[in-house]
Amino acid sequence: MRSILSIIKGPFMPSSLFAKRSAYRGTARTSLRARLHVLVLLLLTLPATASPLFGPIAEVLRHPRCMNCHTVTDFPRQGDERRRHAQLVMRGEDGHGAPTLPCAACHQDTNIDHAGVPGAPHWHLAPLSMGWEGLTDTQLCQTLIDRSRNGDRSIDSLLEHMRSDPLVLWGWNPGAGRTLPPLTHPQFMDALQAWRAAGAPC
Ligand code: HEC
Ligand code: HEC
Repeated sequence: MRSILSIIKGPFMPSSLFAKRSAYRGTARTSLRARLHVLVLLLLTLPATASPLFGPIAEVLRHPRCMNCHTVTDFPRQGDERRRHAQLVMRGEDGHGAPTLPCAACHQDTNIDHAGVPGAPHWHLAPLSMGWEGLTDTQLCQTLIDRSRNGDRSIDSLLEHMRSDPLVLWGWNPGAGRTLPPLTHPQFMDALQAWRAAGAPC
């Protein structure tokens, strides 16, 4: 667990916050602002991640239902063990597979449970710039909000994407025999909204 000091001094903390904290230490009146700062500092001392508000979000993004498409490889992955996709399926120019074996040859707009083929509209791999494998929570957060990598999305449009995109929603309706992300979709949206309300900290 990081010491409070190293967190306060860490590169992601605005130094002004540290200065203000020292400044109000001596004053008798505890303003709402000061109390909010103390709350933020307390939250930051929780062990798991740089930004505790992003922790639960990262756990969903890292779940195989999301990560199997958000790869940094030339191919998708399958299953909870995240094995390489069978049939030598490749990413192709635009994430829709090789011309000879496009995703749509097998993946339809809905799951086909009797054949075990998952499906949702516009089924294809996320672009490499949206690949999330191997990142720490902070890096994952930074990649997510980086408009040069995330399809030029604001925080609001990121939330809208995660509220309504069919490929995201498929993660909670993945077809028989597939596990679900650790939060329900409404819990995930609540976590995203709390994170946005705090200024989307990484
Ligand atoms: C079938 C493949 C597939 C699955 C499964 C999938 N995604 Fe994506 N995802 C994509 C594609 C393709 C894009 C790019 C869409 C675009 O830019 O229009 C994308 C883009 C995104 C983006 C916006 C860009 C970014 O990286 O910031 C977010 C956020 C996102 N997905 C979240 C999720 C979450 C959360 C899940 C799991 C619940 C998930 N995705 C599952 C294919 C997938
Ligand atoms: C030849 C048919 C075929 C093609 C082509 C194909 N897939 Fe699949 N895909 C499948 C089948 C069948 C499964 C289910 C395998 C299983 O559950 O064991 C699957 C599973 C997946 C999964 C895993 C879902 C999960 O979370 O476990 C992803 C992701 C995926 N495919 C993405 C793609 C993408 C992206 C393309 C195109 C680049 C593609 N597939 C092309 C047949 C295909």
